[in-house]
Amino acid sequence: MPGLTAPSNYADEPPRHPALKINSKEPFNAEPHRSALVSSYITPVDFFYKRNHGPIPKVEDLSRYTVSISGLVNRPIQLSMADIWALPKYNVTATLQCAGNRRTAMSKVRKVRGVGWDISALGNATWGGAKLSDVLELVGIPKLSSVTSLGGKHVEFVSVDKCKEEKGGPYTASIPLKQAADPDADVLLAYEMNGEVLNRDHGYPLRVIVPGVIGARSVKWLDNIKITEEECQGFFTQKDYKMFPPTVDWDNINWLTRRPQMDFPVQSAICTLEDVDVIKEGKARIAGYALSGGGRGIERVDVSADGGKTWVEARRYQKDNVPYVSDGPQSDKWAWVLFEATLNIPANAEIVAKAVDSAANVQPENVEDIWNLRGILNTSWHRIKIQNSSHVERSKL
Ligand code: MTE
Repeated sequence: MPGLTAPSNYADEPPRHPALKINSKEPFNAEPHRSALVSSYITPVDFFYKRNHGPIPKVEDLSRYTVSISGLVNRPIQLSMADIWALPKYNVTATLQCAGNRRTAMSKVRKVRGVGWDISALGNATWGGAKLSDVLELVGIPKLSSVTSLGGKHVEFVSVDKCKEEKGGPYTASIPLKQAADPDADVLLAYEMNGEVLNRDHGYPLRVIVPGVIGARSVKWLDNIKITEEECQGFFTQKDYKMFPPTVDWDNINWLTRRPQMDFPVQSAICTLEDVDVIKEGKARIAGYALSGGGRGIERVDVSADGGKTWVEARRYQKDNVPYVSDGPQSDKWAWVLFEATLNIPANAEIVAKAVDSAANVQPENVEDIWNLRGILNTSWHRIKIQNSSHVERSKL
């Protein structure tokens, strides 16, 4: 791993913003307060959730850093940062969401294994970097390939961090070659986040960004890329981010029966209120985020103040002065959509949000129905209980 080292302890972690809510200190896992998410369309780097499985790697000497591309290719190569910078640069605005987002709420149904997260294990950033499809051309893989002449069908990303789950080995993940070699899938080797050089927490000097897919596949601190026949056999692909039915528990699990999770389903959450909160009766503005995987847009966000008996449609927006149209050419297809609505709050209201994506997928109503032992993909309707609203003086308007 030229130029990039991976500490085996937490003595040299980068500085972090004190407002982050820490869910685990070592490895460092933290999310912003929910209200910070809706204060801007692009999430500032300081308030972007941080999801790590080991100590943060460090670049000792950027001029010695290289990433190698090998495996089932005719022309394996090593690329320096200068080589990557020399490729055409793309800026892609994409939301990264951890599959464990909203896990804490799922664990209230029945215990799940994994770091607890509120609703802020996601953020929306503009990532700058080279397209993976351009990089793959350098090793002789034409655009839109789904298999190489040597039989490669997957692209595996290998990092350097020392992860307990891998018994001290690095974090790995893979995506199908078909997606990696498709320029329209916008998979990046990113070196910038929101116009700044990536920071250590987010993968400096180079990370993968796989838009529309759970964050687990966007490998940070990239060391090498392998073209393989099979998908990645590492822990985080084979024994972690998979979705099981509610009947599967730790004594009857068979990891081989399920595929690794890739696209995330349609999701939304209200960010201006806590799960149990107080608002005066009368009119109140609520706001939140909605997103879907695979580049699907958000067709509608419905909100209710009476637990889902009646609904109103929220206003959806991304950028100032550009009306949001699901799947419209001016919309950022990989990015979240923020929403807002003014509701009439009755006494003892229950505020609910649910989103519908451009394929008409709708969030499931109850978390019980999608409970799974790893606590991933809690996309159930987000519910806010309003207590004693008629007796509370403090206005949340
Ligand atoms: N890459 C490496 N090398 N090590 C990691 O622990 N975590 C993954 C992914 N890439 C991880 C990684 C997970 S689970 C998520 S959700 C995202 O990075 C989080 O990226 P972020 O910390 O930049 O928000």
